[in-house]
Amino acid sequence: MTTTSHLSGVWFSVTPLEVSHGKGCWVTTTTGEEYLDFAAGIAVNSTGHAHPKVAAAIAAQAQRFIHAQVNVFRHDLLEPLAAKLAELAPGAIDTFFFANSGAEITEAAVKLAKQATKRPHTVVFSGSFHGRTHMAMAMTTSKTGYRAGHAPLPAGVFVAPYPDPLAADQDAEVAKALWGFDHLLKSMTAPEETAAVILEPVLGEGGYIPAPAAFIHGLVERCRQHGILFIADEVQSGFGRTGRMFAVEHYGIEPDIICMAKGIASGFPFAALGTRRDLDDKWPKGSHGGTYGGNPMGCAAALATIELMTDPEFLANVNARGKQLQDGICELQLQHPTITQVRGLGLMVGTEFDDAARVAAVTQHCLQEGRLILMNAGTYGKVLRWMPPLVVSEREIDLALAAFGAALKATN
Ligand SMILES: Cc1ncc(COP(=O)(O)O)c(C=O)c1O
Repeated sequence: MTTTSHLSGVWFSVTPLEVSHGKGCWVTTTTGEEYLDFAAGIAVNSTGHAHPKVAAAIAAQAQRFIHAQVNVFRHDLLEPLAAKLAELAPGAIDTFFFANSGAEITEAAVKLAKQATKRPHTVVFSGSFHGRTHMAMAMTTSKTGYRAGHAPLPAGVFVAPYPDPLAADQDAEVAKALWGFDHLLKSMTAPEETAAVILEPVLGEGGYIPAPAAFIHGLVERCRQHGILFIADEVQSGFGRTGRMFAVEHYGIEPDIICMAKGIASGFPFAALGTRRDLDDKWPKGSHGGTYGGNPMGCAAALATIELMTDPEFLANVNARGKQLQDGICELQLQHPTITQVRGLGLMVGTEFDDAARVAAVTQHCLQEGRLILMNAGTYGKVLRWMPPLVVSEREIDLALAAFGAALKATN
């Protein structure tokens, strides 16, 4: 019997699986098979699938308010969530705006930066991914496929180089990238026209590449010198993914604006922009908003997620499991030199291969034989990325490494 799909064909899918439910790091298909989910909703299911505390918080909130529109009145979870985020956010960031997705929040960050500086332009970096809406697409340079066919994209976005992690001389590579940034400010967008720089501290879709510390510090220094705002896009790297609450903590820097989404609410669509009060004061009232931003069920999910994440054991697990994973992959790399680099922070780990076809073959083998769900990343699709739920256990990492090892053996 053939069935007709009424779903849009625009979504690509990395597996053909139809799932009925999930628990922790596992998902169960409608035919009853279990898979180890190391995609985690693309680095979203931070506390695992259907964490009982998060599920209970959402269910309880649904009995009180499903939607309480922020322009009409303020519900009673908005201030508590903003206060919690102020405790966790880096530096002097103490003021929050809420939306529903990463793209909305990167767009909001740019809108705020333009209003606060009265400057029109934004600088992004090669390999960046900031979302799929028009402005976010204009700021996305990780793959042509995200942009092709959608022109014209909004103007005023300039692309500076991001250091190549495979370059043999990393100091020279960082110096070259910073020179590229300086050159951009001299040749295309003068500092007095440049509102903001937006950077993923760990490049996500672009290939799971932690920014070299000297690169980030060089950029922040230049931003301060020129009055350009520094926006950290922590949509993917935030909320414990890298073993710290935010990836910028690894670098000891304080962004002017920070973008949060994905892991913040364990999968409930929720996003936050954090900034300092003095900058937020320059955002004219009513110049930005949205129907669902600050949704009470999202706030409940975020508060429950934060409660789980602020247990000291939580980030300790991310760091221990991240080390176990990287050590295990490095051991396999010794027998499989087709892996050209293993890198990452916490449970945001990238494995770069010599070619994309090998990544595709390994991923397929893992899925079909190892019942392990993995995804790729990188402009050339040569990076296999590891982004399990942050509650992943030692045994689950071992299972994943065994499936990966078997796939390497079968496909190399
Ligand atoms: C760094 C980064 N920014 C923004 C986005 C866009 O988020 P969303 O898909 O929720 O719009 C993503 C999504 O992968 C991301 O990784």
